[in-house]
Amino acid sequence: MIMLHRTLYLAILTLGVAVPSHALNLQPCPTGEDYRQLSECLCLPDDRGDVIGVGCMNTTMTSLPNHIPRYASIFYFDDNRLGSIIKIPANYHHLEYMYMRNNGIQKIEKLAFKSPEEDHGVHLHELDLSNNTIQRLFQETLTGLDRLENLTLYGNQIYELQNAFADLKSLRLIDLRNNKLRRLEDNIFANLPNLTDVALEMNNFQGGIPYKALSVLKQTQMLNLRSCSIAQLHDDGFLYLQSLQQLHLQHNDIEYITNNSFNGLMQLTMLDLSYNSIHTIETGAFQYFYDTIKEVNLRGNQIIGLHPSMLPWERINVMMEGNPLECDCELAWAQLAASRSGELLICTGPEQLINRTVTSLHPNEFVCENDNRTPTTAGLTGITLILVIVLPIALIIIIVILSVVCCIVKKRKAKSRKRSVKYSAVYKPTTEEKAQMSKTQVKKQMPKTEL
Ligand SMILES: *[C@@H]1O[C@H](CO)[C@@H](O)[C@H](O)[C@H]1NC(C)=O
Ligand SMILES: *[C@@H]1O[C@H](CO)[C@@H](O)[C@H](O)[C@H]1NC(C)=O
Ligand SMILES: *[C@@H]1O[C@H](CO)[C@@H](O)[C@H](O)[C@H]1NC(C)=O
Ligand SMILES: *[C@@H]1O[C@H](CO)[C@@H](O)[C@H](O)[C@H]1NC(C)=O
Ligand SMILES: *[C@@H]1O[C@H](CO)[C@@H](O)[C@H](O)[C@H]1NC(C)=O
Ligand SMILES: *[C@@H]1O[C@H](CO)[C@@H](O)[C@H](O)[C@H]1NC(C)=O
Repeated sequence: MIMLHRTLYLAILTLGVAVPSHALNLQPCPTGEDYRQLSECLCLPDDRGDVIGVGCMNTTMTSLPNHIPRYASIFYFDDNRLGSIIKIPANYHHLEYMYMRNNGIQKIEKLAFKSPEEDHGVHLHELDLSNNTIQRLFQETLTGLDRLENLTLYGNQIYELQNAFADLKSLRLIDLRNNKLRRLEDNIFANLPNLTDVALEMNNFQGGIPYKALSVLKQTQMLNLRSCSIAQLHDDGFLYLQSLQQLHLQHNDIEYITNNSFNGLMQLTMLDLSYNSIHTIETGAFQYFYDTIKEVNLRGNQIIGLHPSMLPWERINVMMEGNPLECDCELAWAQLAASRSGELLICTGPEQLINRTVTSLHPNEFVCENDNRTPTTAGLTGITLILVIVLPIALIIIIVILSVVCCIVKKRKAKSRKRSVKYSAVYKPTTEEKAQMSKTQVKKQMPKTEL
C-alpha cells in the first residue's frame, strides 16, 4: 500500500495537476454498494472532499470498476491484468486522464470509448496504453475520443492502424514508439490540425519512410523517426512539414544526404542525424533551415568534411564526434565549434595530422592538398602561404596597376592632342584651314544647286 501511495503521489505530481498540497493525503476510496470494486484502490480528494483522483495499481483486478467517484478526473489503472478493453463504463464521464499501462491488453473492442449518449461519453484528454500487447487498431477502436490530446501507445505490438485516428480531432501528441509498424496508412494523420508531436521511434521502416502519411503534418513541430531502420531519405520527402522544428533521425542506416533530402523544412531548429552511416552530405543539403537551425547532431557517422558554407557553424551548436574527419582547409571552422562544444574531434587525415585533436591544431595547419603545401611547422606554412598565394596575387595586382597606368597615360596624351586642336580653333584659323572650310561649304552647297 505504501508503494502504491508513493507511485500515485509521484504520478499526480508529474501530471502537474493543481492539487492543494494539504490534499495530497491519499485515502482508501469511499465504501458503499457502488464502490465495492475499489477496495484495492486509493483515492485523492480535493480540499472540499470530492474525490478527483483514483489509483488502482498493481492489484488483482481483471476488469475496470463499474463505478468510480463521480468527480474523478484522473484514473491510474496501471500494472493490472485487464487483458482487453471492452467498454469504458458510462459512469466515467468526468475522467480526463486515464492510464492503463502494463495490463496485458491485447484487444480493444470497437466503440469501447463511445457512449450512446453524446453528452455522457468519456471525454478523455490523455490516454496512456503503454506496455500492452495491442496488435491492431481499427477505424472504430478510438471513436468518441474527440477531446483526446495525448495518445500514448508506446511499447505495444502494433503493426496495423487502419484509420484509427480519424475521430481524434483534438489530438496534439501521438506516441507510437516501440511498436511493429512497417508502414502507415496514407491518410492516417489526415484532418488532425493540431497534431504537433509525432513519435514513431523504434518501428521498422526499412521498406521506406511513410512519406505519404507524413505529408499532411503541416502543423507538426516534432517528428521522431529514431531507430526505425531507415536506409534512405527521399528527395522532397519532408516537403510539406513547414512547421517542423525538431527532426530525429538518429540510429538509422542513412548513408547519403542530397541537396533535396530536407527540402521544405523552413522552421527546423534541431536536426539529429547521429549514429547513421552518412558519408556524404551535399553542400546545399542544409540550406532550407540555414536561418533557423540551432543544433545539428552528426556524431558517429562516416563524415570526412563539412563545407564551411553549409551552415552558419559559428552560430550553431554542432556535434560531430566519432567521424573520420579530414582536417583540411575546409574544416578550419571546426576548431571554434569543438572548443565551444568540448567535443573530442580527432583528425583521421591528412597524414601528418592523424590522431591529432582539432583543438590542438594551429589554425595554419588546416590546409588543402591542392594548395601544394606540406607544412611541418607554422612558420613554414607562413612562408609557403606567401610563395603560393600572396606572390602570384601581388604579381597580378602589379600587372593590373601597370596596365591601368599605361592606359591612363595613353588617354591623357590623346586628350591633350585633341585639346590643342580645339584651342587653335578658338584662336584664328590659319589661312589653310579657311581654304579647307570654304571648300567643304562649296561641296555642301553643290547638291542644293542641282535641285
Ligand atoms: C506488484 O506487487 C508485487 C507484490 O505484490 C511486487 O512484487 C511487484 O514488483 C509489483 N509490481 C509493480 C510493477 O509495481
Ligand atoms: C500532453 O503531453 C504533453 C507532453 O508530455 C504535456 O505537456 C501536456 O500537458 C499533455 N496534455 C494533456 C492534456 O495531458
Ligand atoms: C514500459 O516497459 C519498459 C520496459 O519494461 C519500462 O522501462 C518502461 O518504464 C515502461 N513504461 C511505462 C510507461 O510503463
Ligand atoms: C486546435 O487548437 C486551437 C488552439 O489551441 C483550438 O482553438 C482549436 O479548437 C483546436 N482544434 C481542434 C480541432 O481541436
Ligand atoms: C548542391 O547545392 C550546392 C549549393 O547550392 C551546389 O553547389 C551543388 O552543385 C549541388 N549539388 C548537386 C549534386 O546538385
Ligand atoms: C592513431 O591512434 C590509433 C588508436 O589509438 C592507433 O591504433 C594508430 O596507430 C594511431 N595512428 C597513428 C598514425 O599514430
